Amino acid sequence: MSATEEAATLKILFQHQYGFLTSKIMFTASEFGIFDLLMESGEFLTSATIAERLGTSAIGMERLLEACVGLKFLQVERKDNQTLYGNTDFANLYLAKSGSKSQYHYMKINSVFGYQSMQYLADAVREGKNQNDRIHGISSNCDFYETIYRSESGLQRPFMDAMNATWSLFGRDVMTAFDLSHFPFVCDVGGCSGSFAKEYISLYPNSTVTILDLPEIVETAKNHYVSSEDHRITFHEADFFKDPIPEADLYILARILHCWGDEKCVQLLTKLHNACKPGGGVLVVETVLNEDRSGPLEAQLFAMQLLLHTEGKERSPSEYNVLLSAAGFKEIQLKKRIRYDAILGRK
Ligand SMILES: C[S@@+](CC[C@H](N)C(=O)[O-])C[C@H]1O[C@@H](n2cnc3c(N)ncnc32)[C@H](O)[C@@H]1O
Repeated sequence: MSATEEAATLKILFQHQYGFLTSKIMFTASEFGIFDLLMESGEFLTSATIAERLGTSAIGMERLLEACVGLKFLQVERKDNQTLYGNTDFANLYLAKSGSKSQYHYMKINSVFGYQSMQYLADAVREGKNQNDRIHGISSNCDFYETIYRSESGLQRPFMDAMNATWSLFGRDVMTAFDLSHFPFVCDVGGCSGSFAKEYISLYPNSTVTILDLPEIVETAKNHYVSSEDHRITFHEADFFKDPIPEADLYILARILHCWGDEKCVQLLTKLHNACKPGGGVLVVETVLNEDRSGPLEAQLFAMQLLLHTEGKERSPSEYNVLLSAAGFKEIQLKKRIRYDAILGRK
């Protein structure tokens, strides 16, 4: 290995070895509101001013700001012998709460929940099952949703906020994988806060979307996320394993199947197939593993979280094919996209 190659390799080693520091610095800066303050102030500020406005120590804030400069979240300029800090475009777009593609809420749940949960990763690997009981300190054998939606967990709204953040980044990319304009009645199964539905009707304005989710989630979505003035979005309270599924031309299953084992996936897909209008279909949205399971890295990393929290997994194209075919769907097509891929099956 040449000296240049070794230097590059050592850089990669450093990035992975200390990746947990990077994540937590990003989360901490975001939770303190540094990126929001700098975005709202519209000017570069000294670390002393930022510390004062955010109520932190001067020394701690300066250290955090310098790390954020190294990570390219912030930029610096020198004026009157002072260092001033301002957001990079990256921070304005993704890290500030009001950024148009803000991931603030996703970082928040990663910080307060995902980060801590990772201490049980070795247990999950050793035992081959989720660690919800250890993570939440409960003895009952609840599924992931029963666990995080318990009022004691305080995680329902943070989880919904996090889910809500994704589709401003990837919604359009996924929804344009296929021409879906000939499906007038759409049911977003496990549609959560409705952010996928909102993106959907902005792209396909002649469609209506029914968000199907558990009663407590529908209630919160109605009150906090979806305007009652948009009559193209309606709601349906149901447990998709136990209750009847309303009739639709297209069922969306975005980030649903990866939470469940094969048997439950086929059970759900079969219910959708039975309820589906003739000529209709199902659109599965997931990060699909390469057939040889060599990547993409995003799917391999998400799969570790799924092991930790659910009975599900990320799957390859042929694994999705098996599930959709078993439920009766035909003409199954997969389109790879930036992060979330689209699989369309027809009735
Ligand atoms: C990972 S989230 C995905 C949310 C949304 N589809 C998205 O991609 O942003 C899974 C969703 O399924 C819902 N869900 C879980 N179990 C359910 C059940 N048995 N019946 C109905 N909805 C359920 C959850 O409440 C949650 O909104």
